[in-house]
Amino acid sequence: MRCCVALLLLVAGAAVAAAQARAAAGAPLGAWTPVPELPGMGRPVDTAAVAARRRALLQRIGHGTVLIPAAHERDLEKEYVQDNDFRQNNTFFYFTELETQDAWLLLTARGPDSLETVLFLPPRNPSQERWTGLRLGPDSLAARLSGIPTVLPTDSLERELRAARFRVRGPIYVPLDLTTRDERRVIDLVFSGQDVRNLRQLADSLREVKDADELARLRKAIDISAAGHIAAMQAARPGMYEYEIEAVLEAGFRRNGADRVGYPSIVGSGPNSTTLHYDVNRRQTRDGDLVVVDAGAEWGQYTADVTRTWPVNGRFTPRQKAIYDLVLATQQVAFDSVRPGATMRDLNRIAQTYMREHSGSLCGDQTCDAYFIHSLGHPIGMDVHDVTVPGRLRFEPGMVITLEPGIYLARESLGVRIEDDVLVTPTGAEWLSAKAPRTTVEIERLIRGAR
Ligand code: GLY
Ligand code: MN
Ligand code: MN
Repeated sequence: MRCCVALLLLVAGAAVAAAQARAAAGAPLGAWTPVPELPGMGRPVDTAAVAARRRALLQRIGHGTVLIPAAHERDLEKEYVQDNDFRQNNTFFYFTELETQDAWLLLTARGPDSLETVLFLPPRNPSQERWTGLRLGPDSLAARLSGIPTVLPTDSLERELRAARFRVRGPIYVPLDLTTRDERRVIDLVFSGQDVRNLRQLADSLREVKDADELARLRKAIDISAAGHIAAMQAARPGMYEYEIEAVLEAGFRRNGADRVGYPSIVGSGPNSTTLHYDVNRRQTRDGDLVVVDAGAEWGQYTADVTRTWPVNGRFTPRQKAIYDLVLATQQVAFDSVRPGATMRDLNRIAQTYMREHSGSLCGDQTCDAYFIHSLGHPIGMDVHDVTVPGRLRFEPGMVITLEPGIYLARESLGVRIEDDVLVTPTGAEWLSAKAPRTTVEIERLIRGAR
């Protein structure tokens, strides 16, 4: 296992180094210029990046077959669609970056240098495209955009699968979160009685260390999120409803190009600031309230996860500031301890210990860590709580995690959470969400400067 991890690190390490070089050079990561896009076909694919991911998967499996279906469009009438009716399946996106629906990816591996990739796409349907806009079809355009030279129509899938089984020995990997009867039918029909295994653990383990393209997407999602948080702080006035703050925040996301929110935005004021995942957002704020805003934009399938806590009237009370500064210092101590080889469990212990030893009498009879009731952080990526192989989150350069200590004093209606996104680097860590003001001085200056 370790040899394979080392191999993966070599592949990912070069990509991460390239991203870091770009960052160091001040390149506008996730450039703010419009991205050329073909209508209905998604953003341009980083064909080198997805090919490297497929090769990394091949290295892991040695011999075998991998079959990955794309997501399906949801049905406006049967599935109660409330937002965008299509979001690509993360596993399919990771290996293709295509946003097209009802596709399949077939990979066959016959040893270290033999990877065959076939993309199956539904045929174009011009009358349907009057409703949906242009769709990618099984033709040379799809081959060019995807970087996959062999693109076939989906009705040849079963035939090709059977042929692949003749050519390739070894297990068959499919993500066993298949969602439709159609997908199960293909697996049962073609692979029944064979060694079918779940691809998810392998695919998920590749996703832990982000490559350069993934980091660029995350940086963009995080920059957009910071802009939304700043807009919300600037709009703050006592008496605003939480949903008005949410509206400004999410307008900031969309105005800056977000595809959607990465998770339901949390805007909790006063008593609601102490409810960890409060997302009802209906209360009217009052002078003197703190507001916890935990919200992240998604861009290019990757999501940020950022929390800022601020006084709706623009001035922290001494009590609010004391609690805030303890949370902030705890986060800094955790950040200073991030390095390759450390674990989230180490950081949790360091953060809890720091908070306990620096509580004084701030939290009454108890030390404040008694009110820090969740864990310190988690990886982010295509999922806001991104995939990890259970029990294995030992940091490596290129991982992106959150650091999000908090103190929640329900009796005082006083909750503070500060959440930032952090890249693990070869020597430590880099703040990715630093554009959103974080100290009490910066926050007060921003809110009051907007008046
Ligand atoms: N926004 C969810 C979390 O912070 O984990
Ligand atoms: Mn989080
Ligand atoms: Mn969060």
